[in-house]
Amino acid sequence: MSKKILFILSVLVIGSMIFSACTPKTEPVEEPGDDVVEPTTELAVGIVLPTKDEPRWIQDQTRFQDKLSEAGYDVEILFSQADPSQEKANVETLITKGVQVIILCPHDSAAAAASAEAARTAGVTMISYDRLITDTEAVDYYVTFDSVAVGEAQAQYLVDKAEGEANPLYLFAGAATDNNAFLFFEGAWNVLQPKVADGTFYIVNSDKAVGLQDKAELTRDEMGEIIGQITTNWDFDDAKSLAEANLTATAAEDKGDVFILAPNDGTARAIADAFGVDTDVSSFVVTGQDAEIASVQYIIDGKQSMTVLKDVRNLVDDAIALAVSVVEGKSVETTGEYDNGVIMVPAKQSDVITVDQGNVQEAIIDSGYWPASEFTGVDEAVVEEEPEPEEFIFGLLMVGPYNDKGWSQAHYEAGLYVEENVPGTEMIYIDTVNTADRPGTTASQLAEELVQQGAQMVIFNSDDMKADAVEFTENNPDIYVIHASGDSVWADGENYVALDNMVNVMGEMEYGKMMAGCDAALHTQSGSIGYLGPLINEETRRLVAAAQLGAEYCWENYLEKDPADLNFKVTWIGFWFNIPGFTEDPTQVANEFINTGYDVIISGIDTTEALVEARKATSEGTTVYAIPYDFVGACDEAPDVCLGTPYFNWGPAYVRHIGAALDGTWESVFEWLPPDWEDINNMDTTAVGFVSGPGMFPEMEPFLQLFIDELAGGLNLWTGPLNFQDGTEFLADGETATDVEIWYMPQLLEGIEGRSE
Ligand code: BGC
Repeated sequence: MSKKILFILSVLVIGSMIFSACTPKTEPVEEPGDDVVEPTTELAVGIVLPTKDEPRWIQDQTRFQDKLSEAGYDVEILFSQADPSQEKANVETLITKGVQVIILCPHDSAAAAASAEAARTAGVTMISYDRLITDTEAVDYYVTFDSVAVGEAQAQYLVDKAEGEANPLYLFAGAATDNNAFLFFEGAWNVLQPKVADGTFYIVNSDKAVGLQDKAELTRDEMGEIIGQITTNWDFDDAKSLAEANLTATAAEDKGDVFILAPNDGTARAIADAFGVDTDVSSFVVTGQDAEIASVQYIIDGKQSMTVLKDVRNLVDDAIALAVSVVEGKSVETTGEYDNGVIMVPAKQSDVITVDQGNVQEAIIDSGYWPASEFTGVDEAVVEEEPEPEEFIFGLLMVGPYNDKGWSQAHYEAGLYVEENVPGTEMIYIDTVNTADRPGTTASQLAEELVQQGAQMVIFNSDDMKADAVEFTENNPDIYVIHASGDSVWADGENYVALDNMVNVMGEMEYGKMMAGCDAALHTQSGSIGYLGPLINEETRRLVAAAQLGAEYCWENYLEKDPADLNFKVTWIGFWFNIPGFTEDPTQVANEFINTGYDVIISGIDTTEALVEARKATSEGTTVYAIPYDFVGACDEAPDVCLGTPYFNWGPAYVRHIGAALDGTWESVFEWLPPDWEDINNMDTTAVGFVSGPGMFPEMEPFLQLFIDELAGGLNLWTGPLNFQDGTEFLADGETATDVEIWYMPQLLEGIEGRSE
């Protein structure tokens, strides 16, 4: 026997089982506000649904009727029109009519307790349908969909569509009187909360939700507080007004490409209509549930993104089967239980399916849920599905922790920027890649590990990884490699190796360090600037030299002070960040500076100890300022003592090279990228920038700006006469340095105290 025939037969059997207990009826039954129907039998079962004003419940009515009329029977279905007293009256009507079972979907979960108790007193079995009747022990069974899974499916859809970071998220919920609204929200929160915590989304329209965004699990009261702010009451008009009010209260920068958790189809359409006419909203992804015909059409038309199909035919089958078992006195099969606040209610639960343009044909039409004739444009919609962008995984190897507020974090943020700006890209990464933290493991081995995980490109982020980067690039000619800070493929450089699959990128941080040096000179009261240096190599020498050149220039030209009165000293710790037992302790080095009268510390390391110690000293009465390094947000650690930050902005270069790998225009190049002199802080264009810190004296701001303008205008501080630290000549009078001479500076410059090697 085919499955289909078996299914039809079982419906017929169910139908006849219910109504075998029925006797002919004399009076016609009137549905409130509806046409008179002519039932042929007395009812053993009655059904009460919440409202006719939502297509969802008309669906349930139709599906009940379909199932029952197939068997040639009629059953009374009453609607409560969102009114608990009407609901109670309906239950009482059914009791009076002698039903043995009532299938009730409550409008208000708690208020329906009274109806359930009335049924219990009359010896009538109460089946809670779709929504749980709460706060009473008088509920016998519950048939439902997996409502937590509904919320999870909605949220997962938003997560899957979001790219990069800081996507505006708007939350809406069902009615607080409906227990399901809590389950949907709980499911959504399960999936969204971690994605708010990791920065993928930020919540725009609920300060209660923002206040609780660090909590993975919410109590019912906490959910209640949030739902109180974002409820639609399951009402289209309320949903629309709330969406409009939210949009009015929201600045344009929190619009753009937005993500909307809408609790069901009716409210989704209303909310989508509101967002659709806001000119600051460029695109939106909006969820729903119920597979209402109007929303399926919205999905086909691209006006609603998804719905969750809760196949009401299954719920109806379950409810009827349960009712039949009760009427027949048979044992009842349930699959779980739900806490209604007083008892655990035995329950039967159905699964749900996510539907969007990609599977609407199969899930809705081919499955027979709704006929194709209900819709227009189905074929076009299916064809219009955007092709998935090509997937490209890039692996990032970071020398320090990904959240070091310094060098490594600047790379990590650039990776996120790539994910946001190049469709189809995904970052994977390994951090703290250095021999002290991972003895016995090389960067090249870790790069191989990233390839195992699917990386088509590997970015090495440290000068320290040069040999490994070259070895890996040679061994993996099919993998693209970016070595940030390296010079291996610089044809003019001293370490040239021809490697078609490698690119070198470095920001011209010498400019950033000149600004840092200038900033330090403008603020030092003691005339002593300390430079907290990492390890000694070509890169770090030229950066220290640049900082001293900037300091001296501003000291002399803007403050008109004698260069002989400016002390500039570097102390090296031995690596890019503190590794106890391996490096000098940067905290201690910072304090040595402070204790010997240095009142501005420029950090050359990847972490923020200089800033932290400056704050500590200042709060203890010795005013000290610091200038951190690398990462645009570094000042945040101690804003008051922060004079500014020179930072790297790798994102635009990575986007360019990954774009080239994807479109076939990849070329092996060495790039040493200056700031975008039009706007050194334009994050979409600049490679290096300088942000002033809150600690800067307002009267010094114009001098620093003047210096930046002079550099932008072509001021070249790498101009002779300049001597090396040991007094030998670097540049003769009027001579300017070449890139090669700057890159490979063998010594610090005259006037700098501290070791050159
Ligand atoms: C139902 C949803 C429905 C909503 C509004 C919920 O309890 O489970 O399917 O969209 O109520 O009526």
